[in-house]
Amino acid sequence: MNNKKVLISRMFSDIEAELLKDAGLFITRWNKERPMTQDELIEKAKLHNALFCTLSDKIDKKFLSECSHLEIISQYGVGYDNIDIPEATRLGIPVGYTPDALTEATADIAFGLMIAVSRKMFFMHKKIIKGEWDYFKPRANLGMELKDKTLGIYGLGRIGVKMAERCKGAYNMKIIYHNRKPTPKADELQAEYVDFNTLLTRSDVVSLHCTLNEETKGVFNKEAFSKMKPSSIFVNTSRGMVHNEHDLIEALNTGTIWGAGLDVTNPEPMQPDNPLLQMENVAVLPHIGSATIEARTEMARMAAENIIEFYKNKRIPHIVNPETIKNRQV
Ligand code: DGY
Repeated sequence: MNNKKVLISRMFSDIEAELLKDAGLFITRWNKERPMTQDELIEKAKLHNALFCTLSDKIDKKFLSECSHLEIISQYGVGYDNIDIPEATRLGIPVGYTPDALTEATADIAFGLMIAVSRKMFFMHKKIIKGEWDYFKPRANLGMELKDKTLGIYGLGRIGVKMAERCKGAYNMKIIYHNRKPTPKADELQAEYVDFNTLLTRSDVVSLHCTLNEETKGVFNKEAFSKMKPSSIFVNTSRGMVHNEHDLIEALNTGTIWGAGLDVTNPEPMQPDNPLLQMENVAVLPHIGSATIEARTEMARMAAENIIEFYKNKRIPHIVNPETIKNRQV
């Protein structure tokens, strides 16, 4: 592979390192727990041909202008909102990613959060820790059941479909969804395409599975929450910036919505004194959607494969900006 050097920005799994080395590439791994600062990343990336990176690496205009020599950026993740894609494309840098590697894992987290919120599980767990489990109280700690309720999916892609399948199979939930336009993925689920307003007003559970972009940023705000049912549950496993956290807290405090399950927060990491952590009908996780052995292994494999295939065969199996590799010499 002509002495190509790959910078691996974190200790991912060992698989990516082995695969890249076996393919004849030279690798450098950042072996600290913390992510590199952007300056550290720039300094190191300057010495490499390819970058294997993830969500915590800021690949913005500044980075790209300093590292415009990079031949490929391979993102370990399905989301790539940390990367300025238009700028990478303008510079002709192809960006690979790992769609589908974490579909099941993330759908499990969305499904789990929905159930946890509906039965106040996280809050009840904390009560035991605080020594507050005393006697049986018939009127206390009441949650709500999900059977036959309506699930509203915002962003019916791979993960949204798997969440919908779980909800349909387990609880016979009716599925409605909102995307930019209807998708054939909805057919098997008998999911109904609705406009955003209808999604908000009809859903008992609203689950977010969209990407973060200019269109989706902050879309779940005061106005959106005000249209949801007072009995509804809001679940976000996509990106924290799709909801406005201040407005979410207010919606929960005022009973505008009933509960929330979050695997992503705005900002991340969430501070320990965030009021959401004290709320009865709220369950928060620290962005662990893809955190299974299976998903992380597959993410590492796919992200490595994107680089290997690029150098071997001038193709990237999973590419965000295919226009960059059409006539490229490597
Ligand atoms: C992704 O791949 O986008 C996940 O959020 C990272 O775990």
